Parts: sequence; C-alpha cells; structure tokens
Amino acid sequence: MAQDHHLSRRDLLKAAGAATAVAAAVPALEGAPAIQKVKAANDPVQYGMIGTGSRGTYLLKHLKSIDSGRCVALCDIKQEAIDKGVATIGNSPKTFKDYRELLALKDVDAVFVTTPLFVHFPLTRDALMAGKHVFCEKCLVFKPEEVHALRALAQEHSKQTLQTGLQRRYSYFYQTVKQMVDKGILGNVHHIHAQWHRNMINKPSALWTMKPGGEQNIANWRVFRSMSGGLTAELTSHQVDVSDWMFGSSPEFVMGLGSLDTLKDGRNVYDNVQLIYKYPNGQKMTYSSISTNQFLPYFNGMRPEMGEIIMGTEGTVEITVGDDKAPCIAWWYREPPKTVDVTKPGEKKKEEPFVAGATMVASGGANGPIPIMTGDLQFTGKEGFFDREVKFARRWLTAKGVMVQEEQRNPVDVELESFFQNCRDGKRPRADLETGLADSVAVILSNLAMDEGRRVYFNEIDKMGREEPKPAAGKKLTPA
Ligand SMILES: NC(=O)c1ccc[n+]([C@@H]2O[C@H](COP(=O)([O-])OP(=O)(O)OC[C@H]3O[C@@H](n4cnc5c(N)ncnc54)[C@H](O)[C@@H]3O)[C@@H](O)[C@H]2O)c1
Repeated sequence: MAQDHHLSRRDLLKAAGAATAVAAAVPALEGAPAIQKVKAANDPVQYGMIGTGSRGTYLLKHLKSIDSGRCVALCDIKQEAIDKGVATIGNSPKTFKDYRELLALKDVDAVFVTTPLFVHFPLTRDALMAGKHVFCEKCLVFKPEEVHALRALAQEHSKQTLQTGLQRRYSYFYQTVKQMVDKGILGNVHHIHAQWHRNMINKPSALWTMKPGGEQNIANWRVFRSMSGGLTAELTSHQVDVSDWMFGSSPEFVMGLGSLDTLKDGRNVYDNVQLIYKYPNGQKMTYSSISTNQFLPYFNGMRPEMGEIIMGTEGTVEITVGDDKAPCIAWWYREPPKTVDVTKPGEKKKEEPFVAGATMVASGGANGPIPIMTGDLQFTGKEGFFDREVKFARRWLTAKGVMVQEEQRNPVDVELESFFQNCRDGKRPRADLETGLADSVAVILSNLAMDEGRRVYFNEIDKMGREEPKPAAGKKLTPA
C-alpha cells in the first residue's frame, strides 16, 4: 500500500479493489447484525470514527470532554491522520486503515463519518447495515441516487440514529430565532440573506489550497467536482439549511451564477457563487459566497465571513454561529411601529403608532440592535441576592449593547451530546435524515442551476438518479 501522507488516488485504487464491492465484502456484516445496544443506562455510547482529518480531530477534541461517549476505534486511510486522532482523543482506541474492520467490531455502538463528501454515502450505508448508529458530517450525501438510496435504507434501519453534522440546529440562539419567526415576533418573514465570504488570496485556507498531485491526490478532494460540491457543499449547505428551517420548507426552485474567477490553479469548483432560492409564498433567500474579501456587514463589522440576516415585517435578526474561538451572536432590530389611520370623518389626517408583536427582551432602543439573551440571564426566582443583582446588571448592560451576549455552549458540543442521547433514547435528532437529505438536495440542485444556467426546480430530484447507486467512478474506499 502506498504510504500514508501522500496517498494518491491511483495508489488507493490499486490497493483497495473494487469500491462497488464494499458492502458485499464486509464479512462481519453478513447475517443482518442487531443494532448495537448501549448496555446500561449509564454506560457511555462506544463509538468509532472514520476519517480523522481536520473535522474528525476537531470533533474528537470536543468528544474528549463528553462523558456519555467513549472512543474505542479510529480509522483513516492515512497513518498520519490516525496518529493525530489518537493523540487528540488521548486514550488507546483500536486503529484501522480499512473501515470495514472498524464496522466489524461488536463493541462499536456508533460511528462518526468524517471523510470527504464523495465517500459519505457508502460509509454511512455500510455502517447502518452493520447495525451502528451514525453521525455523518454534512453534506449527508453527494449524488441524487444516494438521496433515494439512503432514504430507503434508513427506513429499513429506522431504530438506528442517523444524525447529520449541521450544528446550527443545536444552537440555543438559532433555536430562539426560530421561535421568534414561528411566533410572529419578526412579523411575516419574507426574506433571508446569507453570505460566507472569504479572502483566499490574503488568507489562504490549507483545506482549500491545491496540493501536489491535483485530482489524483485525495487531499485535494474539496477543489474537484468529482469528490466535492465546492463552496456550495462546504459553506452554503449550512446556511440553506438555516433558511429551510426558518421558512419551514424546502425551496421551490433555485437559480444562480457560479464562476471560477481567481483561484485558477487547476481546480474545477467555483470560487464565486451567487444564488437565489425561491420558497413558497414568495419567500426568498439570496446567497453569496466569494473568495476575495471576508467582510461581513453585520454586527457592526465585528465578525468576518459568515452570517444570516432574517427579515420580517416587524423586525430583523442578524445571526452567526460560533466555534471555539468566536461565540455565536445574534442581534435583533425592530422595524418602525406600524402606523394606523385614526382619523375621524372630517378631521385632518394624523397617524399613531401601533406596536404589533411581542417583545423577547425587556428593553432596547427601537431602532438599535437588541442582543438576544442567553438562558443564564433568565430569572429563576431561586438565585440569591448577589446573583440576582449581577443578572440585573448584565441584562441592563446587554440591553444597552454594552455587553454582547455569547452563547454559553458551542453547538458542536450540544450536537455531540445530543447524538449520544438519541442513540440511547431512540428519539429523532434535530438534524435528522430528512434534514440532511434536504440539505444535500439543495447543494446538488444549486450546483446544477449554476452549471446549466437555468432555474432548477426542487421536485426534479424525484426523477434524478433513480438507477442503482454507485460510488463515484475511480474512487476507492479502503486501503489494501
Ligand atoms: N459541520 C461543519 O462545520 C464541518 C466543518 C468542516 C468539515 N466538515 C465536513 O467534514 C468532512 C471531512 O472534512 P475534513 O475537513 O475533515 O476533510 P479532511 O480532508 O481534512 O479529512 C478527511 C479524512 O478522511 C480520510 N479518508 C478519506 N477516505 C477515507 C476512507 N475511505 N476511510 C477512512 N478515512 C478516509 C482522509 O484520509 C482524511 O484524513 C467533510 O464532509 C466536510 O464537509 C464539516
């Protein structure tokens, strides 16, 4: 087998054998294994991770402090990545280069699929067939045929948890904003704008930088359409999911313009993406992802790159997710109060303000931003004198915009804990199969709209990819 940090696709192909044979070639999977049962209520869910690259190790760093799960196995086709994964989790998991060996382990209850997008489906499929619960990073699937195949397979394995790595769904702030939308606090929400702008010229990201070997080097998976959906899959996917969630529906159609203008190094994914999604009832999401400037015109320009702005007749929310370095923030702006005509017959016309909708927080300027407050600022009635005074002070400072409210927990921690919880209680994850599939469909159809320069209707997916699903030609899933 080719050694490790420079595994080419050809090396892997040679070593792996036919990728299409993967499911059949998992001897330990034969005989329809039972769903792995977490033994006792307090036993941690024992998990394995397939793909210990950038995202895998990020998740492991977070998983390390979550007691409800225990890492028992790691797998990557690269030794270097395995070593990094072991060092990150800090215990002694079994390690594999062939994911089938990990899936064959009886003591693995659940599996994280944190590999490049083009191998999400086959690995998720085989993990479900092995009786494992699955957390698969976004995007859940890559191709239309995989949408249909995974839906069918998941129905057959409905007792197993299948969660997609869309962490905004696990954010307290995003959940609060969803409630604001649903309760009409923002009035009628007709428009969402989202952007994820990066400056790949001045601040190149290692993940998006072309490495030697071009398309033959799997490390370049992000920048080739044979393995990736480009910016649309890696960035837009998070935000079109927010839009679907807020509007409570998938789009009716998408149109867009995608081009490769600047990063012309042999890649074939777009570096400039502009999209418009049309939802029912005239609602729209406009979207932009560029690679030459990172300015974000929300939060007084305090944060770069990504965010969403949700606009209703009674107010607007600007929101962005957090990570380990920068917290999630959300600001709410109210629209001018509605004016009603209170003129009596014969009187000169005059206008009076009429304030519609509820208020989420006690105060804040009518036109200035109102930070959305975190749960720790709610009064419980049980706090002592000092804590109550501190809360008063923090609420006041927050309402005045002096203190910025930060989400108390990284939603990644919440999504991971929630996954383990759902493996135990069998409840449907917030980012469940259909959420993940809708998100994948949006990515597939957005790229199609830009490729073909036409309006692509979301019901087109029903007829697309109805033939047998096959892994992308020439791609391998396992080493020798
Ligand atoms: N939710 C988020 O915010 C978020 C953020 C970043 C990445 N992601 C997603 O995580 C996934 C992984 O991205 P990444 O940045 O970690 O990529 P990466 O290239 O850094 O890591 C992928 C790893 O998978 C390994 N791999 C590839 N094929 C394999 C196979 N058949 N078996 C075992 N290992 C295999 C590679 O060797 C590599 O180490 C992608 O789907 C990406 O979209 C999600």
